[in-house]
Amino acid sequence: MDVATAQVKCLWFVARQHPGPMGRVVLVTGGAGFVGSHTVVELLEAGHHVVVVDNCINSTKGSDPQELPPALARVQTITGKTLRAFYMVSLLDRPGLTKVFAKHQVDLVIHFAALKAVGESVEKPLDYYINNVTGTLNLLEVMGEAGVKRLVYSSSATVYGVPQYLPTDELHPTGVGITNPYGQTKYVCEQIMKDLATADKEWRVVLLRYFNPVGAHESGKIGENPSGPPNNLVPYIAQVAVGKREALSVFGDDYDTPDGTGVRDYIHVMDLASGHVAALDKIFSEDFRSAIAYNLGTGQGVSVLQMIDAFKRASGRDIPYKVVGRRNGDVATIVASCTLAEQELGWRATRNLQQMCIDTWRWQSQNPDGFM
Ligand SMILES: NC(=O)c1ccc[n+]([C@@H]2O[C@H](COP(=O)([O-])OP(=O)(O)OC[C@H]3O[C@@H](n4cnc5c(N)ncnc54)[C@H](O)[C@@H]3O)[C@@H](O)[C@H]2O)c1
Repeated sequence: MDVATAQVKCLWFVARQHPGPMGRVVLVTGGAGFVGSHTVVELLEAGHHVVVVDNCINSTKGSDPQELPPALARVQTITGKTLRAFYMVSLLDRPGLTKVFAKHQVDLVIHFAALKAVGESVEKPLDYYINNVTGTLNLLEVMGEAGVKRLVYSSSATVYGVPQYLPTDELHPTGVGITNPYGQTKYVCEQIMKDLATADKEWRVVLLRYFNPVGAHESGKIGENPSGPPNNLVPYIAQVAVGKREALSVFGDDYDTPDGTGVRDYIHVMDLASGHVAALDKIFSEDFRSAIAYNLGTGQGVSVLQMIDAFKRASGRDIPYKVVGRRNGDVATIVASCTLAEQELGWRATRNLQQMCIDTWRWQSQNPDGFM
């Protein structure tokens, strides 16, 4: 990329001069996306300075190149704080990434940027391996060259494959029985980071294994904004409730669960966001070493039918659904043990199922067409 293009692509926003006493410079990859944008809210509220790198491959761009992506503009409205910088750069653009690190004294990176659609990853495995694994390798190399060796990584419960026991803790084997390339990329990236932290003792990495993030910021200004038909249950339910889709398909009601439908551990995205701030604090603690994984969930299992019921109550809308066959690769139940995060990060989820549905509904009903 030449300098002129880099200047167009590099949107630079001067931070307000109100850093908290402990403010760190945090570079957030994928910060215009769902979990990223909510985490940026928590980082700014905690007094950190945030630089975002996102190529907007799965998030809405600003209407002209000089504008922030709308999710990030709304983050600034919510917090009353300004991002230090936003760069529309891909992790696959190594020289572009190097320039970003040359411009900022980054203290820590939170790495969200990835493609995440399970079904699409089965159809386009190379796109997923290239984007998620090559993108991560580029990031790690550029970080190493810049001497930035603190990292929080967005991993997933998918690394556990088919759970052998419940609730599933961090000692559960990983990498066995993962049924799709997306899940493999999460597992492979975890392994790469663990190997790196073993080889070079200066690296400090927290691997956050998310369970099922749902909900939205309580302002209703930011939330999940899937492009095309949602792959996940709650955004799909929300689009049915708002009238954008006719009916929900429930994939199987003959699982070995109380009502026969799949049971998952849903976590409010703002709880997830605060987990990242807790992980950041942990990495900066004196005793932290190496690469350590933490589950972020609630420890509570919720079935598909229970979720439909909770959403009906939160929205006051009917949610028509039909039961269809099981979907390949779905497990009956997965629920997190979050004891380690509680003990070592001092973090626990505080928002319940009702709150998740109320906040999702507020976002969906106020923004039926997302950020448009
Ligand atoms: N949402 C979930 O259900 C879930 C569950 C477990 C783990 N995760 C992980 O959390 C992370 C964030 O998920 P999300 O739900 O916010 O997804 P998202 O798609 O909303 O956000 C990801 C962001 O990364 C950006 N991005 C993708 N590839 C990029 C690249 N090569 N260079 C720069 N930017 C790039 C996208 O444009 C998008 O804004 C992902 O790593 C995902 O695998 C998500």
